[in-house]
Amino acid sequence: MARKPKFQRAKGMHDILPEEQKYYQRIYDVVSNIADFYGFGKIDTPVVEEIELFSKGIGLATDIVKKQMYSLRTRGGDLLGLRPEWTAPVVRAYIENGMQNLPQPLKLWYFGPCYRYERPQSGRYRQFWQFGFEVFGEQNSVIDAQIIQIFYNILQDLKLKNLTIEVNSIGDNNCRPYYKKLLTNYFRNRESSLCVSCKKRLKENVLRILDCKEEKCQPIKAEAPQTLDHLCDECHSHFKEVLEFLDEIEIPYSLNPYLVRGLDYYTKTVFEVFAEGNNALAGGGRYDKLVKVLGGKETPACGAAAGIERIISLMKSQEVKFPKEQETQIFLAQLGSLAKRKSLKLLGDFRKAKIMVAESFGRDSLKAQLNRADKIKARYTLILGQKEALENVVIIRDMSNGKQEIVKIDKVIGEMRKKLKK
Ligand code: HAM
Repeated sequence: MARKPKFQRAKGMHDILPEEQKYYQRIYDVVSNIADFYGFGKIDTPVVEEIELFSKGIGLATDIVKKQMYSLRTRGGDLLGLRPEWTAPVVRAYIENGMQNLPQPLKLWYFGPCYRYERPQSGRYRQFWQFGFEVFGEQNSVIDAQIIQIFYNILQDLKLKNLTIEVNSIGDNNCRPYYKKLLTNYFRNRESSLCVSCKKRLKENVLRILDCKEEKCQPIKAEAPQTLDHLCDECHSHFKEVLEFLDEIEIPYSLNPYLVRGLDYYTKTVFEVFAEGNNALAGGGRYDKLVKVLGGKETPACGAAAGIERIISLMKSQEVKFPKEQETQIFLAQLGSLAKRKSLKLLGDFRKAKIMVAESFGRDSLKAQLNRADKIKARYTLILGQKEALENVVIIRDMSNGKQEIVKIDKVIGEMRKKLKK
């Protein structure tokens, strides 16, 4: 058995090795394309923020803040937290950088790592990547539908199948307090039958009971009052419009009256996207109060984020195809130190001409280099030996029939361009 290395990556975290990078790159390309199309500007924020931003923004009673924060005290005594999500930091940046004074709606997107101290399991990591979209300054329901459409389109562009979208409305400060009271009364009367966690939730965050996956809580949940029956007129018509927009753009969705989300900032629309299994690929909704809670002026907002590792795992299990990459059709073989020097220059010239060329500078035998050219299925091998280097020429070898020709080194790029076009 291989010996355990002295140092290992931290629990729940992972390296992104070269062979994994193409998945991140592919997702980045699709996301940034859609972001450009819909007029979203990219934002990056520091990985650490004042910890209070998260406790205020996400909610003191949420699992994320109570149990999952990575926190650190700086030498100067500040208490900082690694971001468990992007929405609170993006709102902070929106306020701090005066973006409230720019023409609204203001649209931002992001792509980067987040940290949550969770129990690692399938699809659940302590460092994971998210991409997300946030729209500020527009309360119209068309934005809620557009955010859902964007996430659906991204996942479709990535060629993922079996997508389902669950939506719900959890009301706002007008109707939610009354609904929570109804729910508290209902569950209090059945407290003895609830699981241990739900007994706690009854005191701290009654809505989260609706989210419980424990077997014993399911029959009680099934009879509980539903939020959609207790929305105020404004929330009701807002949600009705969202659904009408989704029908119009033919996004398949289902209503899930138990969907409440694990972050406290939501108002009105909430949604999650699933494919196979119980892990959501993406989630989000409207959060009309958060900008004010974090010190800005009252600004409606709506957004969502997706988990990149979960998407990659699905891309692998569904064996999705990548768009055809430009194949490397030329291999550059060299022999001797002068040839190596000239090859280095030639390789740079090919790069500038945007023609892919593979090489194997570490190998000195011609046979080993030709083997490598065969392995990558190169159509042509360029050979630069000591003699060719002295005469400023290159041998072009057609790998399909072994025919060789000699061309001047400064003509080789033009020659190869012609050959590749054939
Ligand atoms: P969230 O549902 O906590 O929402 O996370 C969004 C997505 O991140 C999830 O659907 C999941 O795919 C992924 N994710 C979350 N935790 C983990 C984990 N431990 N390991 C792997 N993937 C994970 C938010 O973060 C909100 N900020 C979304 C939002 C944006 N709402 C409005 N704007």
